[in-house]
Amino acid sequence: METLARRKFLEFLAASPLLAALGPYRLLAAEGATDADLQRLAHLVTAPEDALDVFDLHRVAREVLPTAHYGYLATGTDGNETLRSNRAAFEKVYLRAMRMVDTRQIDTTTELLGQSLGSPIVLAPAGSQRAFHAGGELATARAARERGHLQILSNVSTHGIEEVIEARGEPVWFQLYPTSDWSVARRMLQRAERAGAPVVVLTVDLNSGSNRVLEAYYARKDGRDCEQCHAPGHADWLERKPMYFETGAREEAFSTPGMTWDYLARIRAATGMKLVVKGIVTGEDAAACIAHGADAVYVSNHGGRAEASGWGALDSLPEVVAAVDGRAPVLVDSGFRRGTDIFKALAMGADAVCVGRAYLWGLAAFGQAGVARALELLQAELTLVMGQMGTPTLADIGSRHIGRH
Ligand code: LAC
Repeated sequence: METLARRKFLEFLAASPLLAALGPYRLLAAEGATDADLQRLAHLVTAPEDALDVFDLHRVAREVLPTAHYGYLATGTDGNETLRSNRAAFEKVYLRAMRMVDTRQIDTTTELLGQSLGSPIVLAPAGSQRAFHAGGELATARAARERGHLQILSNVSTHGIEEVIEARGEPVWFQLYPTSDWSVARRMLQRAERAGAPVVVLTVDLNSGSNRVLEAYYARKDGRDCEQCHAPGHADWLERKPMYFETGAREEAFSTPGMTWDYLARIRAATGMKLVVKGIVTGEDAAACIAHGADAVYVSNHGGRAEASGWGALDSLPEVVAAVDGRAPVLVDSGFRRGTDIFKALAMGADAVCVGRAYLWGLAAFGQAGVARALELLQAELTLVMGQMGTPTLADIGSRHIGRH
């Protein structure tokens, strides 16, 4: 309900030359912002460096993106149960700070599958990035390079892997949706390997599809004719994705309900790339990954975009770490927005934490500079919390640093 104070504030804004300077917030104010949004007007985000945290970038992204594209970015599945559980999981875990440790030098370097990394924060694969900014995956690659973070490229990207690696100036990891046709998968594996990718990340959590209600809702709300921007005649979603060009693959082959564990051996035989399995949420499946030759296990519920399990990724991490039992690295994503979120996963035994929406908000808001800002913020927050916790290196972070409510 609109309070008098709020109405007065809106009237003030409407009459003020300040409104012109509000940038992305202008629409918010004009349309009748919520109290929380109005509070945010005290801090105007008109440039990447204005963002105080990744949520600031989210607010800009929400304002500048076409409604349908924002829906694609924001969506969970069914009633967004998993999306909410991902965030709620962080609240159940608290930090146990250890004082009086020399933390003048914070070192976030690590090694992952033979690669030296400056940070355990990795860019998760995310499709269709030109839907968020004209620079797409190339802008992301340049920002990731600039800030020194590993990037995993989605195979439903809007730029081919060769271009992305060229923009970055060094290899990226390659995420694979194999389709139900093995020849398509083999072709893409060969292409990625030829381009220089050292690792393939097989996504196994969308084998039978997902029910993206929020995305459909936003698309309906948008109401524009998609063909005004998307070339007519390319109605098939997969045919618009460069990694599928000339494979003959069409949308109906996207789901892989027949994929079982023996698929890992097939990939192994077809490529020399290391193999990470993404989308694992149980100890049983983590053990199966190792038994079938995976080089790393990637805990993920697809940012809440797979099944509406109502189970947060951070909640599923401990059983995976226990089942893997140090035999392979464990990566995790889904819901990470803060340095403290990342710290909690590291304390539970994750070796690397991947972020998705957090950098995509930056991409949507400010292109390459926005991605760079998102990464800078997350890295700064992680460094800060490592100092506060008395953990100067990643190896110092352990289960003693967390507790459960
Ligand atoms: C998605 C797929 C493309 O979540 O990864 O939209």
